[in-house]
Amino acid sequence: MTVTADLNVSARDKAPGDVPRHVAVIMDGNGRWAVQRGLPRTEGHRAGVAALRRIVRHSAARGVEFLTLFSFSSENWSRPAAEVGFLMSLLHRFVRRDLAEVHRQGVRVTMIGEREGLEPSILGLILEAEELTRNNTGMTLVVAFNYGSRNEILRATRKLAVRVAAGELSPGEIDEATISANLDTADLPDPDLIIRTSGEQRLSNFLLWQAAYAEFYFPDLHWPDFDEHALDEAFAAYAERDRRFGGLSAKVAR
Ligand code: IPE
Ligand code: IPE
Ligand code: MG
Repeated sequence: MTVTADLNVSARDKAPGDVPRHVAVIMDGNGRWAVQRGLPRTEGHRAGVAALRRIVRHSAARGVEFLTLFSFSSENWSRPAAEVGFLMSLLHRFVRRDLAEVHRQGVRVTMIGEREGLEPSILGLILEAEELTRNNTGMTLVVAFNYGSRNEILRATRKLAVRVAAGELSPGEIDEATISANLDTADLPDPDLIIRTSGEQRLSNFLLWQAAYAEFYFPDLHWPDFDEHALDEAFAAYAERDRRFGGLSAKVAR
């Protein structure tokens, strides 16, 4: 069966198979969005939270099973203290104001990223969100916070090295599944679609291992302008991709 290109057809009208199971988003361009409007960068982050709310709701409505949002990278600590502080206060506010609503939507929240060394108040918010929503059966919202893929791979490598040193595991027993199972994403399928807003076309240390066969989509919009329609366009583009995983096309010849 071939899938015809029709950007006017909403994802709701398509077969469920057209909606990616796991969507991962690099929410980029908040600062530039604000500067273009003569506003401080922090206003861009505030508008970014509004976009995040919309995208969580719309992804769940479209039947996405896993939505991973890159909210703060392990490298973002290098930004000015005032901007970092503002981003932390946004996280606080998001948990205080939005967690109840997310919970009502049946969304299960989980975090990937390095937890060690996080301020107890920040870690507390993350644990609270995970705990409250643990048994929800709707979409899984994966928040990548203090996340860097190389750091994640490094931590997994150390965990395996400890087991090898203890004689619990032999080097020959380590395979791809062992590595996947020791990453923060152990319980998650690989992302099917990775969206990066703002026009930048790089991963910036996001899901390097997991993205092996992901489809990429780079809309020319800053994150605060990314809305439901833009997400549907991303899904429509995804539905046109021919994922071969190194094999031959599953689609019957046109
Ligand atoms: C993304 O927007 C949000 C975070 C990285 C926390 P940016 O703050 O990177 O915005 P630009 O890329 O500078 O425009
Ligand atoms: C990636 O964006 C991190 C997040 C969106 C949270 P950055 O803005 O930090 O990435 P670079 O610095 O442009 O590569
Ligand atoms: Mg950026």
